[in-house]
Amino acid sequence: MKVRKAVIPAAGLGTRMLPATKTVPKEMLPLVDKPVIQYIIEEAVASGIEDILIVTNRAKSAMDDYFDYTPELEDRLIRSEKFAELESVRRTADMANIFYVRQKETLGLGHAVNRARRFVGDEPFAVLLGDDVMMSQKPVIGQLIEAAEKHGASAVGTQLVSPDAISRYSSLKVTPIEGRVMRVHDMNEKPRPAEKFSDYAILGRYVLTSEIFGILDNTPPGHGGEVQLTDGMRKLCAVSPMIAVDFEGRRYDTGNLKGFLEATIDFALEYGDGVGEWLTDFIAEKARLLAGK
Ligand code: UTP
Repeated sequence: MKVRKAVIPAAGLGTRMLPATKTVPKEMLPLVDKPVIQYIIEEAVASGIEDILIVTNRAKSAMDDYFDYTPELEDRLIRSEKFAELESVRRTADMANIFYVRQKETLGLGHAVNRARRFVGDEPFAVLLGDDVMMSQKPVIGQLIEAAEKHGASAVGTQLVSPDAISRYSSLKVTPIEGRVMRVHDMNEKPRPAEKFSDYAILGRYVLTSEIFGILDNTPPGHGGEVQLTDGMRKLCAVSPMIAVDFEGRRYDTGNLKGFLEATIDFALEYGDGVGEWLTDFIAEKARLLAGK
């Protein structure tokens, strides 16, 4: 089993980030100096992925433009000898082979992944959600690919979340295999407290086999009236091996404002240029003001 292709579902409407996402796709919002989607593509490329399909929609052509050449801008940068800037805009267009398919109706994540069938063919493939950004030493999808290839299984990325939070995620029924790898027996989407299997949540990264497409064809709309990937994967793990990888790294859901702000702060601290010192002083000053109240 060799994973060479990745699919990035990015056709969601981004209603939790309105009004910012009324005309700007949430994947194009900047985390410091790069749009969210670039971090995700960089994670895939750093994991050895060569071909990437972005599932997009009619309101999101800013994403295709971003990964294209910009001749007028590049000419200007050459003439003004801004070679570092030139390199940064060229690199976005040359990072990977990027393909696009439109999801014509927003019918859910499972429906979006099913748009990838022609691109994927019979190969196993990675899925990276377009608004889940990871901060890690080793790329998170690379951790999943390594484990999936070793165990000859499909894989989901997981971490423990708090018992209060699991109802916002998919909950996994798992048993240990080795180290950070567990066997997946079952899962359910956004469970009520009494229905959860565990506090292991699926967090935005998957390796799937092409069997998922036939399954998704026959998966009716579930939670929220959308075709849920979790419902399809539940059937997949019943018929072929699936593992969960408790990955190393920090995951940010940039599709909600709190997650987006947290990611912005974390990546801003990586940026350097005194931002960390400024933030430390700023928080100390705020704390003094609050204490004085
Ligand atoms: P989300 O539920 O996080 O995204 O979907 P959303 O639909 O944009 O969220 P709201 O509107 O703020 O509640 C998880 C992932 O699945 C993609 C999204 O783009 C995101 O990457 N998705 C979701 C699709 O590609 N198509 C869909 O029909 C739904």
